[in-house]
Amino acid sequence: MQRIDLPSSSRLLSPDFTFGVATASFQIEGATQADGRLPSIWDQFCARQGHVKNGDTGLPACDHYNRWQKDVEMIRDLGVDAYRLSIAWPRVMTQDGQPNTKGLDFYKQLLDRLQEFDIRSFVTLYHWDLPQHLQDRGGWLNRDTAYRFQDYASLVSRELGDRVDTYATLNEPWVSAILGHEVGIHAPGMTNARLARQAGHHMLLAHGLGMQTLRQEAPEANAGLVLNMGPNTPHSRRYDDRAAALIGEASMNHWFLEPVLEGRYPQLYTRLRPELTPQILPGDMEIISQDVDFIGINYYTRGIVSFDREKWVKDHAAKDAEVTDFGWEVYPQGLTDLLVDLNSQYILPPLMITENGMAGDDHLEQDRVHDEQRCRYLQSHLQAVHEAIEQGVDVRGYFAWSLMDNFEWAEGYSKRFGMVYIDYETQQRTLKDSARLFADFLKQRPASR
Ligand code: FCB
Repeated sequence: MQRIDLPSSSRLLSPDFTFGVATASFQIEGATQADGRLPSIWDQFCARQGHVKNGDTGLPACDHYNRWQKDVEMIRDLGVDAYRLSIAWPRVMTQDGQPNTKGLDFYKQLLDRLQEFDIRSFVTLYHWDLPQHLQDRGGWLNRDTAYRFQDYASLVSRELGDRVDTYATLNEPWVSAILGHEVGIHAPGMTNARLARQAGHHMLLAHGLGMQTLRQEAPEANAGLVLNMGPNTPHSRRYDDRAAALIGEASMNHWFLEPVLEGRYPQLYTRLRPELTPQILPGDMEIISQDVDFIGINYYTRGIVSFDREKWVKDHAAKDAEVTDFGWEVYPQGLTDLLVDLNSQYILPPLMITENGMAGDDHLEQDRVHDEQRCRYLQSHLQAVHEAIEQGVDVRGYFAWSLMDNFEWAEGYSKRFGMVYIDYETQQRTLKDSARLFADFLKQRPASR
């Protein structure tokens, strides 16, 4: 792959389209006990045997807490417009709700450096590292956690002031609610479908309360939230498989989007599975459905589904398709389809692609990493975004997941999503071919930018 190719008229090449790279605190920072950082649910989850592959933990990760200065230089050298990071709640707030100055200083310095380098910051408040002391009081099953999140959002926005360009309240509440409380493969590792939807409702409430606070404390910043989505393709043309695809999308894509944009849960799903509908208090949906400045979409792959008599929806592996090291199908068309579909179903705020990328079986050979599949993935997914824009969708930015290899949740360090290769023993960083490709592309954008 020599270079990324897009039509010269593409909106992706216009000055107002933002390109960035993304990370999250627990996945890169390491230093889990430094400077008064409190334990999070992911520290606890990693410590429980058999939950994370190879017994991996948040240490060392990329030791970014100690190496951030070089990492920010690396981000600058890529030539991106923006950097998406998350704040570790247990680093910046003490158990009694006071600021942890040392933890906050880490982010202040980092954000200041980004500003010096003219890189816009895109800050996620909650990328899954809930303080363990809140979990001990019920975590997201306890409605009070939504109010504790609001306190945290208030503390962060007051402390960080105008250093932050854009806030996302939550990252992928579907994953933290469903994988964390129904499937049980993420922290806190529970397995109850009804409680999972209740946890999800409290997360949405936290989002809404957080939005109120951000509007007051950081009126200049953009604010919204980030959702994971993928279209569901019916396994056959049979009407029941097509119905299963709609049900699958209602339970994932629309379950978190419809409350935010339209103030209600998808009726297709609440009618079908009334026993899962969370308890909603008067006023909740109004809080949840305040105006957002953007919706962030994380896209990796699509689902292929058929009708199932017990579970309604059954997943299938894609046959004869190209897959990544995670086994996920490479399906760029799904990104165009998803965006175009959402645009026809909702009145959308501007969209940002806040994550897109793939896990590769990457190896360091003579200081190079030839991640040819990731180069193709990048090209085809940028093309997919371009096509969605051509079809009328207002997409304003694209963030690659991820800047560097990192702790991939239940998969530990076994899955490499980075454009930069991390040698976890030496903490050496090496640009993969995809990083070089991305940087060349970013530098070749028209000079009028
Ligand atoms: C997303 C997460 C992100 C990363 C990618 C691969 O679901 O937001 O932290 O793990 O998947």
